[in-house]
Amino acid sequence: MTIQWYPGHMAKAQKQIKERLKAVDLILEIVDARVPESSINPMIQELGQNKPILLIMNKADMADPRRTQQWIETFKKRGITAIALDAQHKAKLPMIEKVAQEILAEKLAKKRAKGIRNPVIRAMCVGVPNVGKSTILNRLVQKNIAVTGNRPGVTKNQQWLKAGQTLELLDTPGVLWPKFEDPTIGSKLALTGAISDAIYHPDDVVIFALEHFKEYYSSQLQKVYKVTDAELEEPAAELIMILTKRLGFKEDYDRFCVKFINDARQGKLGRFTLDVVPVEAS
Ligand code: G4P
Repeated sequence: MTIQWYPGHMAKAQKQIKERLKAVDLILEIVDARVPESSINPMIQELGQNKPILLIMNKADMADPRRTQQWIETFKKRGITAIALDAQHKAKLPMIEKVAQEILAEKLAKKRAKGIRNPVIRAMCVGVPNVGKSTILNRLVQKNIAVTGNRPGVTKNQQWLKAGQTLELLDTPGVLWPKFEDPTIGSKLALTGAISDAIYHPDDVVIFALEHFKEYYSSQLQKVYKVTDAELEEPAAELIMILTKRLGFKEDYDRFCVKFINDARQGKLGRFTLDVVPVEAS
């Protein structure tokens, strides 16, 4: 689901999420592993009033594995704990609880020292649209068992759901607004489906994406669209015209651009990561 954001929407989301985050020990910020930096919400630390954050790089099955590893290391250098997983496959999901316990080890030890035998970690999934918040929440919660009893900080129509031995999650994820300030970020978020199709031009997105693929993933272009070595030298706008014709779309360039975006989103162009790891950290 993609949402069109207006200042009013953002202010409302900001207020609601800030209120709900008061009740948590840990924020699970979900990002798309193909755009791990661009899909981070710029204000989450402020909204969470510096509560610990576990950054979950979801859709790692669609991302470039080498860059995923580089990003985990880069985030670590920035003091952020990040893990990569694929919510559609359950194998790595238990990592969330394990790493949550590590992040909160000190707080949990204090609770144990006070006589609380199995202290619970309360967390909330947040993230920009389409990064897999609901999928992760549903997979972790499995049977959607609500934890009984009222807990402070949760409004009456919200519930904590058991999501592991010691993990409880708020029943609805928080939808955050994406970054807008930079058109390149906009193109990255559009290509991965985090911003509404109504608010970008497909050709802008594809020009950006083709330049990126030409530089980093040229073999995927060669494989999928039969791009030749000589064509890889062409500017992206020229390549759009060539490929539009090759696919039999005559001069319907938008049709090619929409197809390219869908191919990328559906993984037909192979695995890719659009956020390049900063040089000093790679
Ligand atoms: P959201 O709550 O953050 O908005 O995201 P949501 O869970 O709805 O997931 C958005 C889309 O991403 C869904 O596909 C979902 O199946 C897919 N998805 C979630 N996690 C992963 C992952 O780790 N890897 C891959 N490859 N896909 C993932 P959809 O086509 O919009 O819906 P559906 O066809 O799955 O119902």
